[in-house]
Parts: sequence; structure tokens; C-alpha cells
Amino acid sequence: MTRKIVVTSGKGGVGKTTVCCNLAVQLARRGFRVAVCDLDFGLNNVDVVLGVESLATYDVLDAVEGRCRARQTLVKHPRYPTLYTLASNRIAERYISPQAVRLVIDSFAPQFDFILIDSPAGIEEGFHRAVSCAEEALIVTTPHISAMRDADRVAAILQSYKLTATGLVVNLVKRDLMRKGEILSREEIAHTLRLPVVAVVPEEDKLFLDNVAERSRAFRALAESMLPREEKRGISGIFRRWRQ
Ligand SMILES: Nc1ncnc2c1ncn2[C@@H]1O[C@H](COP(=O)(O)OP(=O)(O)O)[C@@H](O)[C@H]1O
Ligand SMILES: [Mg+2]
Repeated sequence: MTRKIVVTSGKGGVGKTTVCCNLAVQLARRGFRVAVCDLDFGLNNVDVVLGVESLATYDVLDAVEGRCRARQTLVKHPRYPTLYTLASNRIAERYISPQAVRLVIDSFAPQFDFILIDSPAGIEEGFHRAVSCAEEALIVTTPHISAMRDADRVAAILQSYKLTATGLVVNLVKRDLMRKGEILSREEIAHTLRLPVVAVVPEEDKLFLDNVAERSRAFRALAESMLPREEKRGISGIFRRWRQ
């Protein structure tokens, strides 16, 4: 069955696109069929992060307006054969309804194991459109109070969407500060936001050079946390809660 997961946050710049693309790459490296849908229409950059920006012929607007079939909006990744992206390159100010995007995504969804939806910052129309297309959510936050407050608001809003699971990804963590107790711990963040932390992602130097950190242990762990129990290898209790 296809899992449709929105990656959201409220706050911008906390790493939604980075988490979405790195999770997609890790799942695709395991052989899962993954489509990354860039629903951040104003500031879309999934294609740049995944290095496929010049490969799209059609985009989601073409599918919505009937110029192509939904499947034709998908760009196959040259390096990971089971990874596709839904192009939204040329959309800026045009209004596209949540239902229209959902129809496009749902038409190709059965061909994938995972649909990962990159959401814009904020809690307005674009957020609503992205969440409307999903059944599960990953909220990305950093250990900083301002990001956590936005994550908390988003978590509250998500409750009205009947999602089956919501988990937190704590990104841009300076591990030494966390170890020394100078920033909130994983447990404190989970407790404060009343959500399971499915992954803690350190600030990676590699990401400054190359947007996908293929060898990152944190992104590998995040991908494993998304898998059904029988496919996990040695995953600790907190990850299991994600699937409940
Ligand atoms: N774990 C990380 N380590 C280092 N840089 C990161 C990390 N996560 C995100 N970044 C960087 O932070 C910036 C914002 O990330 P991005 O994913 O675009 O955020 P958002 O989609 O939430 O606006 C980007 O330049 C990205 O490369
Ligand atoms: Mg983004």
C-alpha cells in the first residue's frame, strides 16, 4: 500500500526540503518506489536539491489543465532508478486547488511505495494543499524555541486532518551541545511537543556542498524508521511508535 507523507514545519529554513529529499534517496536506495512531490510552489527547489532541474518536460499545472497525463509530470532520477519527482518548476502565482493536486498525485500513487510531499513554510493555502494530499506527516523542527513553537502550532492544526501518524524530525542539531545539555534533548523535545521523535539529524558539513548526504547515518535511520516492523533492523522503541 502506498504511504503518503507530508513533510512540513510551519517555520521556513528548518530543513523540510532537505529531509524530504534525503529520506526519498534513502528509501530509493533500499529499492522502494518513491515519488517526491514538490508542493512548495512559490519556492520550489526539490528539483535543484535532487539535481534534476533540467529534466522536466511537463509539470503539475500541465496535468491539472489537461495538457499531459499525470504520469508524464514525473521525472525519473538518473542515479536512483526507483526515485521520481513531480515537477512543479513553472508554477508561481497560479492558484491550484488542493483537490486538483490530489487528483494528480492519486492517479500515480498506486505505482509507488512512498509519496513524499514537500510543503511550503507557513500554515496558509500551500500548507493546506500539501497536507490535504497526505495521510501521514513528518514535522521538521530544530531544537530552538521559535521553530518548536511553530512545530507545536502545526501539530495542533494537523489534528483536524485525520492523519494516521505524525512524527517529529529534529534537524540541524549540534550533537556536542545536545550531549552537554546546552540544548534540549530528544526526550525533552518529544515531551514538549507531545509527539514521537523519529529522527535527530545533525548539522552536516556535507550538506553545505552537496544537498543529498547519501552516507548520513541520521537519514538512513530516518528511512529505517519509516519501514514496516519486519523490514527494520535493530530499531529502538521510539521509532516503533511511529507505525502505531
Ligand atoms: N542537517 C543539515 N545540515 C546542514 N545543513 C542543512 C541541514 N538541513 C538543512 N540544511 C540547510 O539549511 C538550508 C535550509 O534547508 P531547507 O531544506 O531548504 O529548509 P526548508 O525546506 O524548511 O525551507 C539549506 O541550505 C540546507 O542545505
Ligand atoms: Mg523547502
